[in-house]
Amino acid sequence: MFQFQSGILPEHCRFAIYLEATVRGDLAHIRHACGAFLRQLAQLQQRFPDAALGAVIAFGSALWRDLNPSHSVDELKDFLPLGKGIAPATQRDILIHIQSARHDVNFNLAQAAMGAFGEAWHVEEETHGFRCLEDRDLSGFVDGTENPKGEQRQRVAIIDAGENAGGSYVFSQRWAHNLNMFNRLPVSKQEQIIGRSKVTDEELDGDARPATSHVSRVDLKEEGRGLKILRQSLPWGTASGASGLFFLAYCATLYNIERQLMSMFGEADGKFDALLRFTKPVSGSYFYAPSLAQLAAL
Ligand code: HEM
Ligand code: MG
Repeated sequence: MFQFQSGILPEHCRFAIYLEATVRGDLAHIRHACGAFLRQLAQLQQRFPDAALGAVIAFGSALWRDLNPSHSVDELKDFLPLGKGIAPATQRDILIHIQSARHDVNFNLAQAAMGAFGEAWHVEEETHGFRCLEDRDLSGFVDGTENPKGEQRQRVAIIDAGENAGGSYVFSQRWAHNLNMFNRLPVSKQEQIIGRSKVTDEELDGDARPATSHVSRVDLKEEGRGLKILRQSLPWGTASGASGLFFLAYCATLYNIERQLMSMFGEADGKFDALLRFTKPVSGSYFYAPSLAQLAAL
């Protein structure tokens, strides 16, 4: 039996905090901080069961190699820019993903992370995500409809055999939207960009939707097999200033995520995702979220 981290699979969270950091201190401090963070997580889970709190600690390839010189995670690598830099790479060493029904509980755990990692890391960005009306992205389109459900979630997201059983590959990419521009487009144009209807959230027929629509770019099959990923993205930002989507995906194989990205950023057939007309990625990192056993053994 293997146990995966508690923030990977949950459905229907209301809020999330995403911390991305680079390491500064010695590895002993990092190891110790992971243990302290997990203890605080367990305490908060016990104290506030209604919050359905879950969290994930994930590592970039260089730090994971330093922490585990004898272990290899086959597909783990740095994220490199795609589409000649349209998708920038900001590869970080540590991702902490906190999610629950309560922003106050999330915030308390994020503060505990700051206390635990202290001088050992430098937080490069902290993003607060929130669920919008009807699970919609700030573009007004429902996000997450075709996400795996029920038992499929584990099958898609968690490595199920071998020494990394219980682990998961992670991709984070923060996007900044130009909503003024998007909202000026007629709804029919917006629907061609996404590939689904806006109000009723139905997939447009394959021939009714351009090959550059978002759904056409990422709904991929190889030899009859769908390349599925598990998305845990949420909107971020302020009403008066910048806003967008914090895209976060988990998968048992990095391959599926990478194929989708290549298809979005012109690296598969030269076509780019029509989403790029109104939103731009401003960060990008690959991580590995070890199993609980691997975390405990650090
Ligand atoms: C589907 C929005 C970035 C992968 C969708 C849908 C929306 C959406 C509205 C349709 C509803 C649904 O099935 O969830 C966005 C926005 C993005 C973004 C606003 C960035 C600003 C990405 C990225 C990836 C991705 C970077 C992959 C690396 C997917 C997948 C689906 C999907 C796999 C399901 C397609 C299907 O099977 O029909 N997205 N997305 N998305 N998106 Fe995104
Ligand atoms: Mg589909």
